[in-house]
Amino acid sequence: TLSQLQAQNAKEANYDESKVPAYTLPDILKTTTNQDIRTKANWEKIRRPEIIKLFEDNVYGQMPKTFDRLTYSIKREDANAMAGKATLKEVLIEVVHHNQSVKINLVLFVPTKRKGPTPAFLLINNRGKDNTDPTRVHKSEFWPAEMVIDSGYAIAAFHVSDLAPDDTVQYVNGVLQLYPEQLTANNGMRAIGAWAWGASRVLDYLEKDATIDAKKVAIVGHSRGGKASLWAAAEDQRFAMCLSNCSGNTGAALSHRRFGETINRINTVFPHWFARKYKKFNNNEDALPLDQHMLLASIAPRPLYVTNASKDLWADPTGTFLSLKYAQKAYSLYGVEANLPVSPPAINQPISKSPLGYHNREGEHNLTAYDWSNFIQFAKVHYKK
Ligand code: GCU
Repeated sequence: TLSQLQAQNAKEANYDESKVPAYTLPDILKTTTNQDIRTKANWEKIRRPEIIKLFEDNVYGQMPKTFDRLTYSIKREDANAMAGKATLKEVLIEVVHHNQSVKINLVLFVPTKRKGPTPAFLLINNRGKDNTDPTRVHKSEFWPAEMVIDSGYAIAAFHVSDLAPDDTVQYVNGVLQLYPEQLTANNGMRAIGAWAWGASRVLDYLEKDATIDAKKVAIVGHSRGGKASLWAAAEDQRFAMCLSNCSGNTGAALSHRRFGETINRINTVFPHWFARKYKKFNNNEDALPLDQHMLLASIAPRPLYVTNASKDLWADPTGTFLSLKYAQKAYSLYGVEANLPVSPPAINQPISKSPLGYHNREGEHNLTAYDWSNFIQFAKVHYKK
């Protein structure tokens, strides 16, 4: 079974820093044809698009940008939600392409007390649907809507299964029905690409919602959802901010380190997440023309906050911090100095003033109120600038 496979994988994984092999990472500021990138203009014109293409072709697959039609309807609106503190909207977003359609169910709470269009956090929910219960009978730290509303921000969520069920067989039943050509292409999108695509369609809706400041939408995800939140922010520069929690392998962590989860393991247990071409790098990390620091760099100069949990070595906290640190050079091109320390900060010591924020929370692999309180703090610091 899947859980047995995962348990076995976790046992075999390397957790010994001294066994991390020597590796060389591609230089963020050197093109594949060895051209040095020294300016923001050349970064945006040459290197950034090259990096995005490398990730499309080798890792996450293509991101279809066109569709025939996007419509939405407000299924339920309650101006008196959370005892009057928020307005609830349940929105059904429908995207039609080549006579196929996907329906995305969005749950959105907007604070009642607001001065104008409000910045929002949008969670890619990869866990139980009850985490985002619109009735608030069920409350969860995974999506602490009350806490976010009290901080003055709006909070929204959609579930990954609306785009691509998280299943090795069923994942085709969603976005991929709109783009069947993706299934045969070596660099065709799979589930994680479909989730990121869905985040952009939700942003299309949020741009039309007058209560939301769509220029200040932060995309949030945990773990596999955190991989998708990074990819969404990389592909869609309309996302103002990215929060990626415990995203690990093929998220924020460096693959070349082979610490914790590896490419071989992730492609074996989750063959439906990434482009077929990515399997070429199973047990062959050194052949990668990229690493995840380049994905983080492609989000520059937008604020990016990544996290780990101290007991979640599977997601390689050290490799995650290093990846963030190597992304600094792209931010510097914009005159934004991240000034990250040489080594990871101590547990529960968040870095939030830097545009490359980070914390390593005490505890297990999860998305908690601690993580969210730091996301809120990070947003407060950076939206003020
Ligand atoms: C598994 C998987 C990780 C993933 C995690 C999650 O552990 O190996 O890559 O991030 O599930 O989504 O919680």
